[in-house]
Amino acid sequence: MENTVNKELIDFIYASPTAWHTAANAAKILEDNGYTQLFESDNYDIKPGKGYFVKRNDSAIIAFKVPKADFRGYMIMAAHGDSPCFKIKCSPAVKSANAYVQLNVERYGGMICSSWLDRPLSAAGRVVVRENGRIVSKLINIDRDLLLIPNVAIHMDRSANDGKSYNANVDMLPLFSAADSENSFEKIIAREAGCEEEDILSYDLFAYCRQKGTQWGADNEFISSPRLDDQQCAYSCLQGLLNAEAGDSAAVCCIFDNEEVGSGTKQGADSTFLEDTLCRIFDAMGRDRRELAQVISQSFMVSADNAHAVHPNHPEYADRNDRPLMNKGIVIKYNANQKYTTDAVSAAVFSEICKKADVPVQRFTNRADMPGGSTLGNISAAHVSIDTVDIGLAQLAMHSAYETAGAKDTEYLIKAATVFFSSSFNRRGSEIEIL
Ligand code: CO
Repeated sequence: MENTVNKELIDFIYASPTAWHTAANAAKILEDNGYTQLFESDNYDIKPGKGYFVKRNDSAIIAFKVPKADFRGYMIMAAHGDSPCFKIKCSPAVKSANAYVQLNVERYGGMICSSWLDRPLSAAGRVVVRENGRIVSKLINIDRDLLLIPNVAIHMDRSANDGKSYNANVDMLPLFSAADSENSFEKIIAREAGCEEEDILSYDLFAYCRQKGTQWGADNEFISSPRLDDQQCAYSCLQGLLNAEAGDSAAVCCIFDNEEVGSGTKQGADSTFLEDTLCRIFDAMGRDRRELAQVISQSFMVSADNAHAVHPNHPEYADRNDRPLMNKGIVIKYNANQKYTTDAVSAAVFSEICKKADVPVQRFTNRADMPGGSTLGNISAAHVSIDTVDIGLAQLAMHSAYETAGAKDTEYLIKAATVFFSSSFNRRGSEIEIL
């Protein structure tokens, strides 16, 4: 079951420790496939039948391909490029026990803390530097094992296996160096950014898990890697966009930042980024603004964010009937309180797309006594209010430093995304046609 698409996914994730890297690596793939970068500060010069992408904050990216002639609507897929990790504070050094230097960190998102212990970590993100009188952002990834958060020996903490709680301010500081090291954290990042220490104005840097992904199991049926949530979906949607035939609608693939902290930033799903981009595509295609609402009504969105597979040790956490399994296809997520946007219509539309793509689907609902998580679908729908479905790929250990998913499912999502992006959505009242 070993396949090249998972090798490529694992390489992509390994090279994408932060949302900035996810966006940069997505941009590189798009450029290699003939897509042209646009800048929000410039006029959008868009030619029919061509592909483009635009970044915001360098950490979110929207790629799109416009139809050759008739322009019916937008077929949108959205995923997120950020994952839970530890943000390194701007006063990083913490002296400890007269022997060590640790880094001062805070949590970014809701990770499983224990999974971050005793693993090689490093630092990556953006450094903002003064360069020839300008302020310039530089992406860095210190590509070596640099940090580690050590456990306390069980002999010193006999409660280590008894439902331990972790205090982020005490238990989660990564060890960086011996106290007498000549190398400060600032010195290392200046070297990496190719600047002098005094030219560093600020930074957004994060401790991330260095471990590379792997494919494993009796039949190589599993993949494990950091950041599968949500780079497995982001990567698959992007590949679907590249494969798609230009249809009557514009295909739009979004990779937002900051989903793990509620999406409420200018580059998150709770921003104007998608709305702005759709309007600017519409204007650049020379359409009459009075038709915009009509075009929006003929649009559909797939919010793609990984889902929970039934756990081998704790199958009781899954719903009694809808029990997603890895390698059994794309999961459509339902929630009565609309934490997931899926409704009967959007589920039906997406199921038909998957049928066309020859891809199996399964359902997820939370146990009725468990609140569950949220994602970007309903947040985005508040800005661009269109029929939306929430989906994902079944995985284990969501928000662990090292997550596990199904080897077949990456391909399933690429196939479904390819058909989706090649399709159009024609809704008039209660009747729908997928063209
Ligand atoms: Co997610």
